[in-house]
Amino acid sequence: MNIYTFRDEEQFVQTGANLITSLLHTNPRATLGLATGSTPVGLYAKLIEMHRQGLVSFAQTTTYNLDEYVGLPENHPESYRTFMNEKFFNHVDIQIERTHVPNGNAANPEEECLNYDKMLEEFGPVDLQLLGIGHNGHIGFNEPGESLSGGTHLVELQEKTRNANARFFPTLADVPTHAITMGVATILKARQILLLVRGEDKAEIVHRALKGPITTECPASLLQCHPNVVVLLDQGAGRLLV
Ligand code: F6R
Repeated sequence: MNIYTFRDEEQFVQTGANLITSLLHTNPRATLGLATGSTPVGLYAKLIEMHRQGLVSFAQTTTYNLDEYVGLPENHPESYRTFMNEKFFNHVDIQIERTHVPNGNAANPEEECLNYDKMLEEFGPVDLQLLGIGHNGHIGFNEPGESLSGGTHLVELQEKTRNANARFFPTLADVPTHAITMGVATILKARQILLLVRGEDKAEIVHRALKGPITTECPASLLQCHPNVVVLLDQGAGRLLV
């Protein structure tokens, strides 16, 4: 695992963007696994800026997002499809039909999960999977517990996660209770993983995930099993890793 801690926000974001753009320079057809949440917003903005400067093209890139809420209309302001379109896809030359986000409104969610994995089997593996981490150690929406699911699956969101995400909704009651998420096995199939973490409030979970025991009680700790992980931290998030 290669762990880098940055004092400077600009360098943190630029380093993440450089990893993605250099992959696309060597393989313009690369497949990216993408994440939503607050953490990657600056990275997407940097990629848009680099695209506008003519430094990178996404024209041949295919993307697969980690997760989506169940039951929110696709065009709901807080759906992850809307997030991706607004924060990234609408501003670059990506072909929207090559961007994939699980369908949280599928009539048969189990079938949607199987189809998402089938698509990843057929067109994957993902070359670079971008990840954030939840305060409880979740990656995607793989919540801590006695066991974890390998493939893409339907998950009930833990209260901690719903509370953390309530900042984006009018009230806690509006936060969906379920989501579709890639499973840990799906995530770990990516050739390379890029984990970004910002903020003092994540220092403890970063320490547990990267230095603690590998356990389903901290899903991000399974990243220790992957041979090619790059972790970018700001100073707050890296505070306990001395
Ligand atoms: C988002 C996702 C989540 C987030 C995590 C951190 O697609 O899968 O695991 O990466 O909840 O979220 P932020 O970045 O908002 O702290």
